[in-house]
Amino acid sequence: MSRKTPRDPATLAVDKLNIFEAEPELARLSAELARHDVLYHQKDAPEISDAVYDALKRRHEALARRFPSLVRADGPQSRVGAAPAAGFAKHRHAVPMLSLDNAFSDDDVREFIERIRRFLGLAESEPLAFSAEPKIDGLSISLRYERGRFVRGATRGDGEEGEDVTANLRTIADVPRALKGRHWPDVVELRGEIYMSRADFDALNDQRRRDDEPVFANPRNAAAGSVRQLDPSVTAGRPLRFFGYAWGEVSARDWATHTDFLARLRHWGVPTNSATEACVGVDALLAYYARIQAERPRLAYDIDGVVYKVDRLDWQDRLGFVSRSPRWAIAHKFPAEQARTRLKAIGIQVGRTGALTPVAELEPITVGGVVVGRATLHNEDEIERKDVRVGDMVIVQRAGDVIPQILGIVPEERPRNARRFVFPQVCPVCGSNAVRGEGEVVRRCTGGLTCPAQATERLKHFVSRGAFDIEGLGDKHIDAFFTDRLIERPGDIFRLHKRAAAIAGREGWGEKSVERLLASIEARRSIALDRFIFALGIRQVGEATAKLLARHYLSLESWRQAMQAAAKDPDGEAARALENIHQIGPSVAKDIRDFFAETHNRDTIADLARELDVQDAARPRASGSPIAGKTVVFTGGLETLTRQEAKARAEALGANVAGSVSKRTDYVIAGSDAGSKLTKARELGLTILTEQEWLALIGT
Ligand code: IVH
Repeated sequence: MSRKTPRDPATLAVDKLNIFEAEPELARLSAELARHDVLYHQKDAPEISDAVYDALKRRHEALARRFPSLVRADGPQSRVGAAPAAGFAKHRHAVPMLSLDNAFSDDDVREFIERIRRFLGLAESEPLAFSAEPKIDGLSISLRYERGRFVRGATRGDGEEGEDVTANLRTIADVPRALKGRHWPDVVELRGEIYMSRADFDALNDQRRRDDEPVFANPRNAAAGSVRQLDPSVTAGRPLRFFGYAWGEVSARDWATHTDFLARLRHWGVPTNSATEACVGVDALLAYYARIQAERPRLAYDIDGVVYKVDRLDWQDRLGFVSRSPRWAIAHKFPAEQARTRLKAIGIQVGRTGALTPVAELEPITVGGVVVGRATLHNEDEIERKDVRVGDMVIVQRAGDVIPQILGIVPEERPRNARRFVFPQVCPVCGSNAVRGEGEVVRRCTGGLTCPAQATERLKHFVSRGAFDIEGLGDKHIDAFFTDRLIERPGDIFRLHKRAAAIAGREGWGEKSVERLLASIEARRSIALDRFIFALGIRQVGEATAKLLARHYLSLESWRQAMQAAAKDPDGEAARALENIHQIGPSVAKDIRDFFAETHNRDTIADLARELDVQDAARPRASGSPIAGKTVVFTGGLETLTRQEAKARAEALGANVAGSVSKRTDYVIAGSDAGSKLTKARELGLTILTEQEWLALIGT
């Protein structure tokens, strides 16, 4: 059938469009959504309501599902910071929200200070001042002020991307709508903790009991739950408070110390914690810790430790960060809370790498404000060492967010018939032999991916938050889809659209929820290399290591080839290069090689590579850096920098710092008394720089 006048695709329902009309319509929607994303997220000047935006987005998704061949990898489904159809809009932090390293003992604190002194090369006599503050147990939040007015507030999320909860934060009296005084930078992001006082928490729970509503486990959960309400009027009814203690993006920073910054906050009308103190030296810090710990029961709010921050910002700047936390701050945690309860049974969990982990099933007990029903027993040696038996009265410990642990037993309360626990020698899930490698504490199932527990745990890891982060594909869905063979290996997730009908017929699934799931899967078809690497679930390769690998190898193809070469020849160049990456080391390198030595793992990657668009890694902080991508080696003593500082700075500029010289080394920086590395560099004819030449090269 021919038509005289072409139809306007924008006026037609999705199911009425043919592929020729769909193509320009998809492009139009894509461009529209991109424009509104910028207006909303970057310019704070939306032109359309959320509902209209959602309708555009739904139309785009529906069209993309009907004509998958037309979907472009850079379409709105792959953009970060685009508003999701429901819930909160995602917000990408201009400056990441980091976490803190922990100290659990006085010695940890001493080491922390020593590390700083070494890094900065401070003389013994040089005083080192800290700001010491209570560590509030709440929800960290970032508040953006432009020309003194509050314009945006977001949760921490994964540190890179949180949720936009602006409307809810506007209901909190402690969050000023406008900064007081003058002299605020044009743009300043204030960071701190939203919390609920203990008294307010008790009153809220009393009310909820009266209203027959579920109570909150502790003030932190109550605060977090209240901030993440879709209806701001609910948040408005919750007694939330705020303390400021840090900053993110700032257009001009004119404070020289952390103490100055806190004074500035107070001047602007932002609450700060009055228990903050300046402390010089380790003894002062430890005395502060003891004092706050003694006051803890009488404080109006929950805290889980104290935080020490180097006061001078020029030193903070030099110290910089190690992966996710600053070198210039540490959280000194209070000892974990403990309680006693009865051990009902010992179960065995099989993890994604086959590790058999004993889990204690407990009579539920409240520890530090949270009901605990299970706790880890670590491994078989631990059970043996503590002689833990089913029926025992056990001591349970919980610290922060870590999994509760069994510390030991109460021997006097052991039932007479309690028997020693016999650790299984076969996998309780697949029946394969479970073995312990030489010198290893962990017993592992040898079933590999034939073991359903390993296969499903790997899939769960694959879709988890730091990995592919596929919304709507939770643990129970993975278990069910695996049982019914809809998803057996990671690549199957991206072929699930071909089985849409089979899913829609299942219990709990309607057409709408299947559509939503498929859309969130499609949104992840394009993925950053570091997330991809992390998702594979290689032993010891967490998010930070995955980032290192991505930054080093840059593309999936070059990483894959290098790892295969390293697996084939553990003494070859590729294996040495892998081990030489700063912070990787022999043990992690071996786990990576072992992973690549297995055919099924190589197949999994090849299968995924066909389904996905894995984006090359960029070096954001290193753009324009003269040493980005270069391999450098330091040798001999440096004069103006400590070795550690030199290394950290080179890495921040995108260089790879290696421990030994090879023909792949781009620069050797030779300080005083450089020895064999310098000789070798000369033999290889490498570029050798003095410290001054190096500093000139990197522009300092
Ligand atoms: S400073 C880059 N100061 O602790 C450092 N954090 O474990 C930013 N927290 O995510 C954090 N009280 O939610 C800092 N006085 C305090 C704090 C504090 C509580 C929380 C915060 C952070 C977490 C890190």
